[in-house]
Amino acid sequence: MSLVIKGARPYGEGEPVDILVEDGVIAAIGAVRVPEDADVLDAAGQVLLPGFVDLHTHLREPGREDTETIDTGSAAAALGGYTAVFAMANTDPVADNALVTDHVWRRGQEVGLVDVHPVGAVTVGLKGEKLAELGTMAKGTAGVRVFSDDGVCVADPLLMRRALEYSTALDAVIAQHAEEPRLTVGAQAHEGEQATRLGYPGWPASAEESIVARDCLLALHANARLHVCHVSTAGTVDVLRWAKERGTKVSAEVTPHHLLLTDDRLETYDPVNKVNPPLRTGGDAEKLRAALAEGVVDCVATDHAPHAPQDKDTEWSAARPGMLGLQTALSVVVETMVKPGLLDWRGVARVLSERPAEIGNLAEHGRPIEVGEAANLALVDPDAEWTVHGAELASIAANTPYEGMRLPGVVTATVLRGRITAREGKIC
Ligand code: DOR
Repeated sequence: MSLVIKGARPYGEGEPVDILVEDGVIAAIGAVRVPEDADVLDAAGQVLLPGFVDLHTHLREPGREDTETIDTGSAAAALGGYTAVFAMANTDPVADNALVTDHVWRRGQEVGLVDVHPVGAVTVGLKGEKLAELGTMAKGTAGVRVFSDDGVCVADPLLMRRALEYSTALDAVIAQHAEEPRLTVGAQAHEGEQATRLGYPGWPASAEESIVARDCLLALHANARLHVCHVSTAGTVDVLRWAKERGTKVSAEVTPHHLLLTDDRLETYDPVNKVNPPLRTGGDAEKLRAALAEGVVDCVATDHAPHAPQDKDTEWSAARPGMLGLQTALSVVVETMVKPGLLDWRGVARVLSERPAEIGNLAEHGRPIEVGEAANLALVDPDAEWTVHGAELASIAANTPYEGMRLPGVVTATVLRGRITAREGKIC
């Protein structure tokens, strides 16, 4: 079976071209003859990008299949332009052993919409007491290369040091949820003017920045790879710049919500805006956007976090933190980065696909759109807009903070190894 994408502009550059895909691989670019049996995607006026890669998503399977499954999460990912996602380990049971990580990988392949790469836990049960068997997870079918206790911080510096040291032998990366827990006991919102005025116990920026600084030093001394999850403060950007200048192998992600939303949202008292780390100030968001454009922050990751109504639509202090992100990420990046001229489409490919694929060690994603490369692709209508409705998203949960918002940029098709997985907002 072959596929022809007609009249797309790769990276939004140059004249429109046709792309012929055969056996899952890009076979020709230019004016191509359409084979008789070919599927044809009419892509006039559209931008062709490498399929997106999400380093940070919560698919809730096993354990909370009432909020998301590998099936529904994969659908949300495909509709959002993703061809690969990394599923965080804070499931129930925790993905701290090869039985669970291999199950997640296999289930993702059965569903077949995106490659679901399980993230292995760093510590047993995410308890922060004892290292999990990273080597067994790395050697399993899933070939785990990203380890994280995300949701909680690996707070013990000795454990973190050991995890970093051990990861070097596995060619893996430790992704840290940077939150010094002693500084965030009872925290509900960004510690600042808004929280003080409205009476929310504060989550100080220093709780993130102190862990990032510590871990950068530990990674430098271990010559290990550290990835910082959901960077949320201007101060963390300064720490990352300092560490990178010293040759630390550190990478970092920012979420779409930290690029667009601020703690002004606290005024609503609506727990859909509760997230960890919390929404910060306008100044933080502005610095994060500049850091992403410059590359100090490497990529965008969604922290897609589905929650059931009984866990989310409650009083603020009882609500779980987290928001949906897979189907809105591209649009938020267009709104915050492309529209203001901070990134062109090449830059979008870099932050949504190429860098995350490199950080996650994926060989076949985030690759150049060239003959001989695997056809993992996303097609985007740059001029279209859409209105977000949580109930219409593919996730089981509906906790989007963008409800009713009109956003620019529409993913019109996603292609995984030459197969169309999503087209015109529908799963194929
Ligand atoms: O807001 C968040 N939700 N932050 C995290 O780190 C975990 C996530 C979740 O699992 O719901």
